[in-house]
Amino acid sequence: MPHDRIDARYGWTGGGRWSLAIAVGIASVVTVGAAAARQTSAPAAAREAPAAAAADQAPPPAPANGFVGDDTCTTCHEPEGKSLPATLHGKARNVRTPAARTGQSCETCHGPGQAHVDTGDKTKIKRFTAMAPKDVNATCLTCHSKGSHAQWNGGMHDARNLSCTTCHSVHNPKSERAQLKTVTAVQTCETCHKQEAMKVKKSGHMPLREGKMDCTTCHTPHGSTNVRMLKVGNTINETCSSCHAEKRGPFLHDHAAGRESCASCHDPHGSNNDRMLVAKDPMLCQRCHVSSRHPATIYDGSQIAAASNRVVGRSCVNCHSQIHGSNHPAGEKFLR
Ligand code: HEC
Ligand code: HEC
Ligand code: HEC
Ligand code: HEC
Ligand code: HEC
Ligand code: HEC
Ligand code: HEC
Ligand code: HEC
Ligand code: HEC
Ligand code: HEC
Repeated sequence: MPHDRIDARYGWTGGGRWSLAIAVGIASVVTVGAAAARQTSAPAAAREAPAAAAADQAPPPAPANGFVGDDTCTTCHEPEGKSLPATLHGKARNVRTPAARTGQSCETCHGPGQAHVDTGDKTKIKRFTAMAPKDVNATCLTCHSKGSHAQWNGGMHDARNLSCTTCHSVHNPKSERAQLKTVTAVQTCETCHKQEAMKVKKSGHMPLREGKMDCTTCHTPHGSTNVRMLKVGNTINETCSSCHAEKRGPFLHDHAAGRESCASCHDPHGSNNDRMLVAKDPMLCQRCHVSSRHPATIYDGSQIAAASNRVVGRSCVNCHSQIHGSNHPAGEKFLR
């Protein structure tokens, strides 16, 4: 099974296999790269791909016109011939699809197939499950070069040798949208990012496990101009305030901690504290406020306990209720 191969290369089925997966990944980039050069199986790339990608590969001495047409391919590969029309790639009325190249939809991606058909040799056709990630990506990016895809090159996932087909399947998609290999986007991310995916299951969380949001509500897996592949804005705060607009400010008195990042107090993925806080009150505040005019730190233990309104209920925010910032003229201590 070719999927097994790609799975092994990316540690697809397990997060704990990273070092192995990366080592194997590097090895396979080298060997597959060399194999690709030997096979000279890149005529389609030469036809389709940008000059840069073509220059990466060995010059293809294959005939300029080695195309056989879809009907020939599907005589032997019937399942793929059936699966393609079921997806957006098979909708010929969209002139940008492979299917719109009449009779040549298969070879738009797989490259001219004459040599493969003549010999039955599977190394004489582009096999995405056996190609180096960068060669897979170059094929897909010839068409998918807009929006977030324009940020793919150099993004974290590109840098870590993921490919489009790590997450997407052209012939056997499982998801309702975007042709993922898993039913939901969270499941796709979860295969590698277990920690973040598990945090969503904690008591404090945004409605991800309820299905109202998913990882791609905030992140784009393709790459972005924001930090941490966040979809919106240029900072973490701009992402948060795209929904929680009332926390955006500017406030007459803003809280330096919040100006820096919402993530100084909240874990965006979830936590077992109230309101997804990274620590419980009063510890939350005491990580930064080690002194104040009233007892505030763990070292004032007994006094805090005595003045119990600092530890019960909402603790410090019993009084400092405008913790995100205040527009009251006398709100500099976030009390009103
Ligand atoms: C005469 C029958 C025949 C025709 C026509 C044919 N193929 Fe194949 N194809 C094969 C055989 C046989 C294999 C090898 C299967 C194996 O070794 O597991 C193969 C393998 C492949 C593979 C690799 C599958 C894998 O296991 O990784 C791809 C991709 C492929 N063909 C695409 C095409 C495309 C695209 C066309 C049309 C241009 C085409 N084939 C036309 C018989 C054919
Ligand atoms: C949009 C690009 C694209 C088009 C168009 C396309 N393929 Fe594929 N093909 C792929 C990719 C990527 C894979 C790797 C497996 C996957 O993603 O489903 C693949 C895998 C295959 C395989 C190997 C199946 C396996 O088990 O790994 C065969 C055979 C194949 N394609 C034949 C065809 C035929 C026949 C057509 C035309 C009807 C076609 N492909 C059209 C991209 C494409
Ligand atoms: C880490 C997993 C992952 C990788 C790698 C990945 N994608 Fe995606 N892609 C997704 C998810 C999840 C969605 C659906 C959520 C969304 O729309 O952002 C998606 C959406 C898409 C869409 C439909 C929405 C849109 O943005 O147009 C296309 C087309 C697409 N991806 C193509 C690609 C291509 C081409 C590559 C390789 C350059 C790629 N993807 C790499 C996970 C991935
Ligand atoms: C010849 C151009 C072309 C090539 C090559 C191509 N695609 Fe597409 N793809 C399209 C078009 C056109 C659509 C329809 C949606 C659109 O207009 O963006 C589409 C749709 C998709 C979608 C579904 C988007 C959705 O909203 O459901 C995914 C995922 C995708 N492509 C991934 C890939 C991957 C992975 C590859 C490389 C193996 C690839 N494509 C190669 C043109 C192409
Ligand atoms: C095949 C494994 C794999 C899959 C699947 C995957 N990622 Fe990643 N992702 C990585 C690797 C490797 C890194 C690099 C950082 C690291 O080692 O943790 C990374 C980094 C990230 C980062 C941090 C980027 C930065 O700039 O620090 C984010 C955010 C991210 N991924 C989101 C996602 C989302 C969302 C999905 C699902 C759509 C996803 N990933 C699916 C492997 C994967
Ligand atoms: C509400 C928005 C939001 C959602 C939903 C979200 N994230 Fe994040 N994610 C963030 C922010 C913000 C950061 C940066 C946190 C920081 O740097 O302190 C981040 C960071 C990450 C990182 C990098 C962590 C690191 O330490 O480098 C990964 C990986 C990641 N997210 C994966 C996921 C996955 C997987 C999901 C789905 C289960 C997901 N995220 C859902 C906002 C979100
Ligand atoms: C796409 C919109 C969206 C984005 C972006 C977003 N949130 Fe949320 N957030 C929600 C929704 C929806 C809820 C649930 C509201 C409810 O239950 O009333 C929520 C709830 C919360 C809660 C309260 C959780 C609880 O236990 O009651 C906190 C705290 C929070 N978000 C912080 C953040 C932070 C920090 C960011 C940036 C990393 C962020 N949000 C980004 C939509 C978003
Ligand atoms: C100094 C720590 C701190 C920072 C920084 C911070 N928050 Fe909060 N946030 C809290 C605390 C404490 C609560 C609980 C308040 C309560 O119980 O009344 C809370 C509650 C929330 C809630 C849920 C209750 C409500 O008021 O709607 C949301 C949503 C929220 N914060 C979003 C954000 C966003 C967005 C940012 C960044 C702009 C941010 N927070 C920055 C400490 C912080
Ligand atoms: C990440 C560090 C950090 C955390 C966590 C934090 N703060 Fe702050 N806070 C600051 C900084 C920095 C200032 C600005 C101090 C200054 O201007 O001298 C500030 C200012 C304040 C002020 C106004 C102080 C003054 O002198 O005007 C109050 C009141 C305050 N914080 C209360 C809290 C409370 C209550 C919490 C917990 C819910 C909290 N802070 C959590 C860093 C933090
Ligand atoms: C019973 C109400 C109340 C509680 C509970 C409370 N504070 Fe305050 N806090 C105040 C008042 C009132 C001021 C303003 C004092 C002034 O302006 O003279 C203040 C001032 C501050 C200041 C500004 C620096 C200073 O010394 O004036 C910080 C920082 C602060 N509090 C942190 C905290 C932290 C951390 C907690 C939780 C451990 C907390 N507060 C709990 C009422 C409270």
